[in-house]
Amino acid sequence: MKIRTLVMQMSVLGLSLLMISGCKTKQQKSTEAMKIKKEVVGVSDGKEVILYTLRNANGMTVKITNYGAIVTELTAPDKTGKFENVVLGFDRTDSYWKEPYISNCCYLGAIVGRYGNRIAKGKFVQNGKDYVLAINNGPNSLHGGIKGFDKVVWDSEPFENTDGQGVKLSYLSRDMEEGYPGNLSVTVYYTLMNDNSLKIDYDGSIDQACPVNITHHGYFNLTGNAKTNILGHEMQILADRYTVVDSTLIPTGELRPVAGTPMDFNQPHPIGERIEQVTGGYDHNYVLSDGIMPIRKIARIKEPVSGRVMEVFTTEPGVQFYSGNFLNGVLTGSGNVQYNDHWGFCLETQHFPDSPNQPLFPSAVLEPGARYKHTTVYRFGIE
Ligand code: GLA
Repeated sequence: MKIRTLVMQMSVLGLSLLMISGCKTKQQKSTEAMKIKKEVVGVSDGKEVILYTLRNANGMTVKITNYGAIVTELTAPDKTGKFENVVLGFDRTDSYWKEPYISNCCYLGAIVGRYGNRIAKGKFVQNGKDYVLAINNGPNSLHGGIKGFDKVVWDSEPFENTDGQGVKLSYLSRDMEEGYPGNLSVTVYYTLMNDNSLKIDYDGSIDQACPVNITHHGYFNLTGNAKTNILGHEMQILADRYTVVDSTLIPTGELRPVAGTPMDFNQPHPIGERIEQVTGGYDHNYVLSDGIMPIRKIARIKEPVSGRVMEVFTTEPGVQFYSGNFLNGVLTGSGNVQYNDHWGFCLETQHFPDSPNQPLFPSAVLEPGARYKHTTVYRFGIE
């Protein structure tokens, strides 16, 4: 009798183990199928535009399109477990190329390059040769020129690994595209990790020396579905100095200590607390190191009402903190929300602005035979 009971227990146990390991329920299967969704949503430059939706083990989702390698939506839970969108973007993917103001305004959620941020007067010298770029921001060249990496259709394929699931995006920027020398082959891997991070790995190589500075231009708003502006977000940036800029936002070369100024975010401060004391609002590069560094935490942001927290980690020597000063209400984004000034903030991990013309800044020049490598992680949590 006892033996029979034991055998029955073992077989019950065996059966349940089998169900866990091999026989997946319908619900398990459909959740897995949902991990990566791929839809063709349009055509731009004669190429198919695809929208990927990824979902991680905790229910966090991200939408990524191969047009501009743009993150169009990213959901994260608040302190009650409610998932809402924490980035600015458009519901319709074609708005990214049809929206009249987008091309000279905002770079919402995109990958910018070949040189993210500004190059003074659009000029630099490489190996003794003068190069001239398009002027698209006051007297300067900004974010790669007229048709930067944010406005091209990338090759794309989804992937899955032990960290989570992602999308690999590749682009070949040809010699002299937007005035930059060398054929630059670049790959961006977005991974939605099971620890609730969005990881971005960049990889590139080139056949002629050229400054390369590629970054993600996501605007974050942790209120959820962009309910208010971001002035109440508590920002912490772990940096002691920033690059002082002139009136056209070109660095003067001075690295100034933040201590005792409204630029100091080593201790958390609401973004709005001292913004009036900073002409034009925050749009500055913080100095993190004097070159590429092992990945480390460089910022933490908390939105007190939702309890959402975002931490930023990077290998890059600088980060541009931009408080959405030029949003101006010209764009109506996801959920019909008007993006007024300060409706999102960016933390663009990068080499310093105008480094091609600043010999004392960490060099952004990519040489043939070397690899462009950069990793940035945006990790979400609650407090
Ligand atoms: C960067 C720049 C800003 C602005 C935005 C796009 O963050 O530093 O000055 O140009 O991109 O609007």
